[in-house]
Amino acid sequence: MTDRLHDKTALITGAASGIGAAIADRFVAEGARVALVDRNEAGAGEVAARLNAAHPDRARVWAADVTDAERIAAVVAEAQAHFGRLDILINGAGVNVFAEPTELSAADWRRCLAVNLEGAWHAIQAVLPAMRKAGYGHIVNIASVHGHRIIPGAFPYPVAKHGLIGLTRSLGVQYAAEGIRVNSISPGLIRTPAAEAWLASLADPEAERARQREILPCKRLGEASEVAYAALFLASDEARFINATDLTMDGGRSQIYHD
Ligand code: NAI
Repeated sequence: MTDRLHDKTALITGAASGIGAAIADRFVAEGARVALVDRNEAGAGEVAARLNAAHPDRARVWAADVTDAERIAAVVAEAQAHFGRLDILINGAGVNVFAEPTELSAADWRRCLAVNLEGAWHAIQAVLPAMRKAGYGHIVNIASVHGHRIIPGAFPYPVAKHGLIGLTRSLGVQYAAEGIRVNSISPGLIRTPAAEAWLASLADPEAERARQREILPCKRLGEASEVAYAALFLASDEARFINATDLTMDGGRSQIYHD
């Protein structure tokens, strides 16, 4: 522990699993208190129990769906009252929605944008007033390499992730002079429950896992804890001149034009 977030408070959406849970682990280890927000209350509760066992009273759970703007605003208000303030917002909640475009239902199109894009906006809109008043705030959106490159068969997920990077840039510029930074991280394939569920849905998961490893220049998948270290840096004062930008972390894969 190096206390890089000493005395800071962070609200993390999608904190029950994968990347969000790993960010909660890292932030608490670095001295932060965290509001764990997820629609999976039981999962978030397990994360909180683990964190509080090692560092008492550092984590608290709020069950919420990020598509519900009113609920998210209420959660942000409660978390601000509980912790005294919110310094950091991490938008980690996300879902894979992959379909052949002509077969995509209207409901799935809306769900994809509602969770992966609007969900982040709801949380940002809720934290902004207090951050502007304080003249201080760091926001990190978990985007994706799908926000930069197109992988056939993954529509409409990249539409939402491109939008999330646009949201990052526009709000980062909008509030820069007020001490608020907005950045995003674009991970490549990271070993999380969501990635494992995608692999398990394929005809031959082990063959696809091996293929994915092979096309990565580093010959391995990423780890959620590695994304957490990037989030730690971007959410800390160490990154105070980094704003309105996106950090791709995919082991170098997106730099390959073709073999
Ligand atoms: P995960 O499925 O392990 O965790 C996502 C969490 O978000 C879950 O706890 C889930 O309950 C929560 N969540 C989903 N929809 C929600 C909603 N409407 N309201 C509140 N909570 C909700 O997934 P993973 O892999 O950790 O993904 C986290 C983020 O990272 C997502 O935004 C995803 O798009 C992004 N990402 C993941 C990559 C990967 O390879 N795993 C690669 C690039 C980006």
